Amino acid sequence: MTETNDVRETARLDVDALLDSPRTRIVVCCGAGGVGKTTTAAALGLRAAERGRRAVVITVDPARRLAQSMGLAELDNTPRPVPLPETARGSLHAMMLDMKRTFDEVVKEHADPERARQILANPFYQTLSTSFSGTQEYMAMEKLGQLRQSDEWDLIVVDTPPSRSALDFLDAPERLGRFLDGKLIRFLSTPASGAFRLLGAGFNVVSSVVGKIVGAQFLADLRSFVSAFDTVFGGFQERAERTYRLLQTPGTAFVVVAVPDTDAMREASYFVDRLAQESMPLAGLVINRTHPLPSGPGARLGSAEALAAAGDLAEAGTHPLAVAALRLHAERVRTHERETRLRARLLSAHRGVRVSEVAARPEDVHDLAGLRGIGSALAGEAGQTGEGTRRREGDGTGQEDH
Ligand SMILES: Nc1ncnc2c1ncn2[C@@H]1O[C@H](COP(=O)(O)OP(=O)(O)O)[C@@H](O)[C@H]1O
Ligand SMILES: [Mg+2]
Repeated sequence: MTETNDVRETARLDVDALLDSPRTRIVVCCGAGGVGKTTTAAALGLRAAERGRRAVVITVDPARRLAQSMGLAELDNTPRPVPLPETARGSLHAMMLDMKRTFDEVVKEHADPERARQILANPFYQTLSTSFSGTQEYMAMEKLGQLRQSDEWDLIVVDTPPSRSALDFLDAPERLGRFLDGKLIRFLSTPASGAFRLLGAGFNVVSSVVGKIVGAQFLADLRSFVSAFDTVFGGFQERAERTYRLLQTPGTAFVVVAVPDTDAMREASYFVDRLAQESMPLAGLVINRTHPLPSGPGARLGSAEALAAAGDLAEAGTHPLAVAALRLHAERVRTHERETRLRARLLSAHRGVRVSEVAARPEDVHDLAGLRGIGSALAGEAGQTGEGTRRREGDGTGQEDH
């Protein structure tokens, strides 16, 4: 088996060095849906705080119990302090992104009060601000930009929205910016413009058909929305670009989160490529919910051997418990081998990417103790559930530093 070699070649993502470095100002956790982005972001924020940084976590969709454990009762656009034990050397604030409110804030900042009022009251705006795909991504970026300007935190950890694809986080703000910058909506919404005159009677037919479907009121709302919004387009684009550039600075560290299945690893791979294309700094890859082999005497028993032994015992009709345990072990070894292959495949396409593995826990992560556990697994501390994997890595390099 080449497995051990692959493991040995893997450079560990040194999470503590990343979190402790005063140069690290922003950590962005991204990845496909459901892989553990929110959990990772919260765990990194907590660990950074307990190690001495003034950290803030922007979460997007924390599970209810997790939010509660961080003292977050509702969507709230202001970071709230998370009560930490006295041993914590730094501080942690957390917030749940309220995208509608963030959008409102942006409008108010860029438009005079009367325009802002018109925009905010417009039903089209209300739809856009809550459900246009990309709004959430844009607003996460916007909030990041706002927090970065304030002096209150020295580390901002950003969770990214539950997009279908990991790449949406990078693509959506631009898409929304383009939409708002909107040659398309301007075209649609200014009947007096040349474009509409050119379309002439044809457009009126379309318009009346569309009007029947979506309602004439909708088109009227869209028109007044766009004319009111026109004044703030420039501001939006500029802000999006500024945050985009912020993400390219060396103070930013992207952490790509994946789980060891084919789809999530493929997404992670795309994301790693994409970050390189955009000159955005990748800190490393977190492979969450792995199934390391248990350490101890059983660890070296292969799946074929375990199955053969189970077969023999089953035939003899004795020791039914041992048969079950051997089959379970065989299954676990196979899972582990599949995960190792997936990881090796990813790393062969991205040599040198640093990796941290977090073993699957029997329970979901819903309190500070759970987050602390994830944090120490991320940092590769012994005694965590990732121990089995880590020990094998340590065997190979002899240069583990914890
Ligand atoms: N290592 C882990 N072991 C067990 N459960 C986990 C682990 N990491 C995350 N979870 C659970 O998986 C679910 C999805 O995680 P979450 O962080 O919300 O994913 P995402 O933000 O990527 O959608 C949550 O219930 C979380 O508690
Ligand atoms: Mg999430």
